[in-house]
Formats: sequence, structure tokens, C-alpha cells
Amino acid sequence: MRKPMMAGNWKMNKTINEAVTLARAIREQVNDVNSVDRVLCPPFIDIPMVSAELMGSNIAVGAQNMHWAESGAYTGEISAPMLKNLVTYVIVGHSERRQYFAETNETVNQKALAALAAGITPIICVGESLEQNENGETQAFVSEQVKAALAGLAAAQMADIVIAYEPIWAIGTGKAATAEQANDICGGVVRQAVGELLGDEAAATIRILYGGSTNDKNIGEIMTQPDIDGALIGGAALKVESYVAMVKTTDEVYQGE
Ligand code: 13P
Repeated sequence: MRKPMMAGNWKMNKTINEAVTLARAIREQVNDVNSVDRVLCPPFIDIPMVSAELMGSNIAVGAQNMHWAESGAYTGEISAPMLKNLVTYVIVGHSERRQYFAETNETVNQKALAALAAGITPIICVGESLEQNENGETQAFVSEQVKAALAGLAAAQMADIVIAYEPIWAIGTGKAATAEQANDICGGVVRQAVGELLGDEAAATIRILYGGSTNDKNIGEIMTQPDIDGALIGGAALKVESYVAMVKTTDEVYQGE
């Protein structure tokens, strides 16, 4: 069975002090939840202090981005070897990075390969725009994003990869996909694409998250869907109460199964 994951993408929020305070409060409240993987993804500058705060806990830290090269003349960038001992996960290909920082399917693939080579689990983001959704292009577009991101990877590596389906129209809008819609794409498109590329076992192994306006109200229904293994949470992960509630609800859903 795939272990569910509640990953918080803090985006460009929280000073170092605020980040440590949030991580500490989360640790105090959900350190003992064993059925759900909890991942906190603060801004780069907060990572060392948050990692120190979570040392000895069973809550993991992730970065929000990284460069694919090991080192070199890439002003402002951070590499996998720099992150290696600080994080367990790294988000790659978030739609905000694709939109504002010109990330492409090719660079997302390079980042995923570099993360895996450093022993960091990539959380690869895919998802269509509102226009693509309205034009009926979701299936083809998302399937292509998945296959491009996984190019050059082997089936056995799918246990060390997470994919997050985040429709752009649902991010930060308060308009989440319905649980059924999200499940249809996570299963019928993302998992399907992994299967076409790497076989049934790889498809059954890989964890697929949904992201886009998830909160403590809608997470229960989302987590009862068979092809959704967790959430990549934006706004609701910035507040202790909502993030903790989402972890606890997921725990209840999975304990009940
Ligand atoms: P919201 O949960 O704020 O919609 O953000 C989702 C997201 O982009 C997580 O990566």
C-alpha cells in the first residue's frame, strides 16, 4: 500500500524565525502520526534552521527547487549536493516556476535526475492551465508532462519519486478540483502515463499527490479517492491549525481502511 503524504509548500513565505516557530508547532502536534508522511518545504534560507528544529522527529524537510548541475557559474542557484544532507525531498517543476522562471519539461527532467542521483526524492509537479482545461487538452498535456519528466528513469526508481498533479486553475484560487475530477486525472492520466512508460508495477508504486486549494474542509474527501496518495498544500500549510488538521484527517482516513 502507498503511504499517504501531506507536503506543505511554503512558497516565498516565512522569515527564519517564523519558519522555525511553524515547524516547532507542527512537530509538537503531529510528530506521533505514523501513517502519514509529513513534509515541510520552506524557502532555501530557512532550510538549515527548520532541519535542525526537526532533527530527531519523523517530519521530513523538502526544498522548493534546485539546479540540475552539481556546481558552477549559476548565480543565485542551489545544487543537489548542497541540499543533500539537509532535505529528503525537493519540489521540481512547480507551475509557478514553469510560468515565471521559464522551466521546461527538459529542465524538470534534468532536475529530477540530479535529485535522484543525490539521494533526494523529487516531487515532480504537473498540471494544465484553465485555457487548456477548457479546450479539453488536459489529458494529452499532463500525460506528456509526466512522460517528459520521467525520461531516462527506470521502473525501480518510481518508489523514490512523487508526482503532484496541480491544475493551475486550482492553485491559490479557492476553487479546488472536485475529489472525483482530481482522482480521474491522478489515476486515468498521471498513473496511466507512468504505466505506459514503465509498466504496471511502476504505476502501482508511484505516489501521486493532488494540489490546488486543498484545506482542512476538503481533504477528507480527496484522501478517500483511490488514486490520490496525498496533497501538496500551499496556503493551508502556512497555518498550524489547518496543516495539523489535514494530517490528522488523512491519518483517520487511512486508519479506517
Ligand atoms: P494552494 O494550496 O495555496 O492552492 O497552493 C497549491 C500549490 O501550489 C502547492 O504547491
